[in-house]
Amino acid sequence: MKPIVVSAEEAAVRAAELYRALLRRKPDAVLGLATGSTPLGLYAQLVALYRAGEISFAQATSFNLDEYVDLPPTHDQSYRYFMEKNLFSQIDLPQARIHVPSGLDVSEAALAAYDEAIEAAGGIDLQLLGLGGNGHIGFNEPGTPFALGTHVVALTERTRRDNARFFASLDEVPTHAATMGVRTVMHARVILLLAFGRAKAEALAAALTGPVTPDVPASVLQLHPDVTVFCDKEAAALL
Ligand code: GLP
Repeated sequence: MKPIVVSAEEAAVRAAELYRALLRRKPDAVLGLATGSTPLGLYAQLVALYRAGEISFAQATSFNLDEYVDLPPTHDQSYRYFMEKNLFSQIDLPQARIHVPSGLDVSEAALAAYDEAIEAAGGIDLQLLGLGGNGHIGFNEPGTPFALGTHVVALTERTRRDNARFFASLDEVPTHAATMGVRTVMHARVILLLAFGRAKAEALAAALTGPVTPDVPASVLQLHPDVTVFCDKEAAALL
């Protein structure tokens, strides 16, 4: 996993090219999508390509990585809301083929059904990942066994503090989330990891060059045969 070190703007353009190439080759591709500030530039590029008639999601299917427990889809900090606002409402991906884990029904059956739906769709062709400051992917916090599929996690204090900037106060940040597991992520055929800014430097160095350990969930990516990493100079500072 050799990272491609470019500006965040350049990474967004080049990452969008991967989607264009994939959807040209396989119009009904299954896309694993992510939230957070990291993919926003990429999503803006995808919208621009769509508007320019360069890309279509009309036959594609999507599965998002994660969702906060107890936030309804209408809550402006729910990941479903985020995706609608930043991507889904602006492209031609059919609503019926959009999947985001439910934050309201986190029963064992609903969680298992999420992994089953991914399999039934043929598996994820391209999984997009951001990187938590503590090395998490999706919401797989340090210590999460690699063997887990979609499950509920208790968010760490660090993650809640990192994400508190989007909420009125730390108290309002949910304590739990539903997330694809590491096993789910590792089943994707191709993985695209994006990391920008100095706050990601420790996690990125540990993920790419440290031991493969559940203590750094992203380190599992060293075991995947097809991972592309785009990061900026700041995130690459400790590599
Ligand atoms: C959240 C999400 C992750 C994301 C991470 C980084 O915890 N569950 O999927 O990668 O935040 O967020 P950001 O991109 O805003 O730095």
